[in-house]
Parts: sequence; structure tokens; C-alpha cells
Amino acid sequence: MTNATNNIQPDLLKDQVAIVTGAARGIGKAIAADFSACGANVMATDVLDDELTKTANELGDAVTAKRLDVTQEDDWKKVVTETVEQHGRIDILVNNAGVLLFDTVESMPLEQFRMMFDINVTGCFMGMQAVIPVMKKAKYGAIVNFSSTAAILPNNATGVYAASKYALRGLTRSAALELGPHGIRVNSIHPGGVNTPMTNPENLPDDEVNQRYLFVPQQRGCDPAEIAASVRFLASSQGSYCNGTELVVDGGMTAGLYFPNLPGHPDFNG
Ligand SMILES: NC(=O)c1ccc[n+]([C@@H]2O[C@H](COP(=O)([O-])OP(=O)(O)OC[C@H]3O[C@@H](n4cnc5c(N)ncnc54)[C@H](O)[C@@H]3O)[C@@H](O)[C@H]2O)c1
Repeated sequence: MTNATNNIQPDLLKDQVAIVTGAARGIGKAIAADFSACGANVMATDVLDDELTKTANELGDAVTAKRLDVTQEDDWKKVVTETVEQHGRIDILVNNAGVLLFDTVESMPLEQFRMMFDINVTGCFMGMQAVIPVMKKAKYGAIVNFSSTAAILPNNATGVYAASKYALRGLTRSAALELGPHGIRVNSIHPGGVNTPMTNPENLPDDEVNQRYLFVPQQRGCDPAEIAASVRFLASSQGSYCNGTELVVDGGMTAGLYFPNLPGHPDFNG
């Protein structure tokens, strides 16, 4: 990707403790790297055991690998208990783990619908339920839920994914209303096209990936570090007055539509 920037601030999250789900790779890994570089202790969690261990080793001592299947309530209890035992607090939860399966609404098998909702929605719900008592006790916390531009401007072949990400908007806004008085902020982030194994499983080079995003005003895909920087904003004191905020980070993808025959279109030449 080009123009990626994350402007690390070494003390921004000093002494804070964060749980990040789906942190073995992709955006979750970028968040673990960003948060730890900003001074946080990060519980990096995932179901991809080997990849997670590799990621934690790569990112250094501030990042601890923990197995957590977000669909399993017992896993949540275990990770929350162990985090409090080890660090005495949980300041940040990033519900990043998610899955995307492509199919039309007509053809999507019911078990795939259920699987996507189980991970994308129920997993996030259980994560919030697991940390809320700890955060309430501390009268402090920041939760960032991963929605998508699919929940702002849906496209074909992602109807069920979009539905799951729309569900997170409701969950996030209601939780923001309920938890704001307890010092806990709950926000959602809505990335556009980010270059990760989810969208680029073939690991194509940046130039080829960017070709897919020429309809985006910024004319390229997003680097995971750019999403991590926005999550850091929502999760840190920089976003201290953001609650129930839906932060769209999409290079302008959902800003509107281009008309090819009118000035201002990237290919318009008069
Ligand atoms: N990549 C994009 O363009 C994009 C755009 C909008 C939103 N998002 C969202 O961002 C988040 C991260 O996506 P990514 O692109 O890094 O994807 P990714 O596939 O690279 O990473 C997702 C991670 O979630 C983990 N995961 C899956 N099921 C899990 C489970 N049951 N328990 C725990 N972990 C599980 C995977 O093992 C993987 O490590 C997702 O919620 C995704 O929907 C991504």
C-alpha cells in the first residue's frame, strides 16, 4: 500500500491493558503492534494457534498470546480472568475477529449464515458481556467493535456479512447509551477495503490490489496499520468524547457516487 502512516505515540497507552480478538494476522495483528508500540500490554487472541504464537513472538514482550474462540463463552471467561489476574485491569477491548463468506442472499447456505452471525455478532456480544463488569468496577473502559463499510453501503455477494455488520451498529449504539454513565465508551469502526488475508488470500502485490480500488477516491486499498491508528484514536484518550461513534475509514468509498461523464471523475478528460 502507499501513503500508509500510523504516527506511533510511545506513551499514549502506557500501563493500559487491551484484549484484541483475531490478532494472529491482518488488522488484529496491526492493532496489537500499534497498541504495544504505544505502551499497552496486549492480550492478543485468536484461534490460529501457530500464527498467533508467531505474531506474539514477533511483536515482543508486551504482547501475550492467548487462545480465544470468540464463540465460546468459557474462552472469554478464561481470558478475562487471566488478564485481570496478570494485570489487575482491562482498559480496552477490540472486537476485531470476523469472517467474510461470499454468496448471494438466494444461495447462501443456512449454516454459513449462522456461522457468520455466531462469530461476527454473538462473539462480539459475548466479549462485551465478559469485560463490562471489570470495566464498570474501574469506572473506565473503551470498547471498539469491528463493523464495515458493508454496513454503510452494502454490495452484491456480501448480504449476510453486511447484515452481521449492521447488527453490530445497533449493539454498539445501545451499549454506548447504557455504559456511557459508567465511564465506558463503545464505538464502532467501519473500514473500507483493507489489504489482509481476508480480502487478499492470494497475497497479491500492492499494485495489483490497488487496481481493485480505483473506484475509491483515494485510488488504493488500505494498509492495516491505517485502521490500527484509527482504532487507537477511538480506544485512547484522544477519542475521549467519542461514544456511539461510527468511524468510517474507507478512503472515501462510501462518500458518494462518481458519474464518469462529469468533471471530478478520476478518468474525466473534458
Ligand atoms: N479486510 C477488510 O477489507 C475489512 C473491511 C471491513 C471490515 N473488516 C473487518 O475487520 C476485522 C478483521 O478483518 P481482517 O481483514 O484482518 O481479516 P483476517 O481474516 O485477516 O483476520 C481475521 C482474524 O479473525 C480470526 N477469527 C476468525 N474466527 C474466529 C473466532 N471464532 N474466534 C477468534 N478469532 C477468530 C481469524 O483467525 C483471523 O486471524 C473483521 O471483523 C472484518 O470483518 C475487514
